[in-house]
Amino acid sequence: MRQTMPTPRRLVVAISGASGAVYGVRLLQRLRETAGIETHLVVSDAGWHNLQHELAMERAAVEALADQLHDIRDVGASLASGSFQCSGMVVAPCSMRTLAAVAHGLADNLITRAADVMLKERRRLLLMVRESPLSLVHLRNMVSVTEAGAIVCPPLPAFYLRPQSVDDIVDHSVARALDLLDIPHALATRWEGLSHALR
Ligand SMILES: Cc1cc2nc3c(=O)[nH]c(=O)nc-3n(C[C@H](O)[C@H](O)[C@H](O)COP(=O)(O)O)c2cc1C
Repeated sequence: MRQTMPTPRRLVVAISGASGAVYGVRLLQRLRETAGIETHLVVSDAGWHNLQHELAMERAAVEALADQLHDIRDVGASLASGSFQCSGMVVAPCSMRTLAAVAHGLADNLITRAADVMLKERRRLLLMVRESPLSLVHLRNMVSVTEAGAIVCPPLPAFYLRPQSVDDIVDHSVARALDLLDIPHALATRWEGLSHALR
C-alpha cells in the first residue's frame, strides 16, 4: 500500500554554486509564505560563496528562510534516505558540476545524494540549470537527467509578460517552478492571452 505524504508537505531546496542564488532565496521566501510547506535546505560550498557574493547574504539570514538547514557533507541526514517522506526537490540554481553529478548518480554530497533519492523514488526533481553557452557535455547531462525523470527548467526570462524589474524576472521563473511542484501561489506571472495583454 502506498503511503500518504505527511502534512505539512516537505520540500528539499538546494542552492548550488551557479550564478543566480537569488532564485533559491526567492523560492524559499515564497515557500515560507505558503501554508503547509516544510522546507529542508542544503547549500553547497560554492553556493554559500555565491550567496555572499551576489546577494551579500550571511548564513544566518539564509538559514532563517528554511525550516531546517542540512550540512552539504552530512550524507547521513534524513534527506539522504528514500524513507524520508517528501514531495520533491528543487536545485535553484543548479551548477553544471551538480548537474553532472546527478546525471552520473555520483551522490557525493547531500545535494547530489538527495537528488539521486528523488530519481530512484520517482519523486519530482527540478533542476534550475544555469550556464551559457552550453557545451555538448552539459547538453548530454541534461538529456540524461531528463531520461531519468528530472525536469530541467533553466531560469530564463519571459519578455512577453513585460517584466518591469529584476524582481519580476526572478518571480516569473520561481512561479513556473512552484507550478511544477503543484504549489499554489499568487505571483502574477500568467499569460492570459494576447487580447488581455493588448488591453
Ligand atoms: C561568481 C561565480 C559564478 C559562477 N557561475 C556559474 C554558473 O552560472 N554555472 C555553473 O555551472 N557554474 C558556475 N560557477 C562555477 C561553480 O561555482 C563551480 O563549478 C562549483 O564547483 C560548483 O560546485 P557545486 O555544484 O557543488 O555548487 C560560478 C562560480 C563563481 C565563483
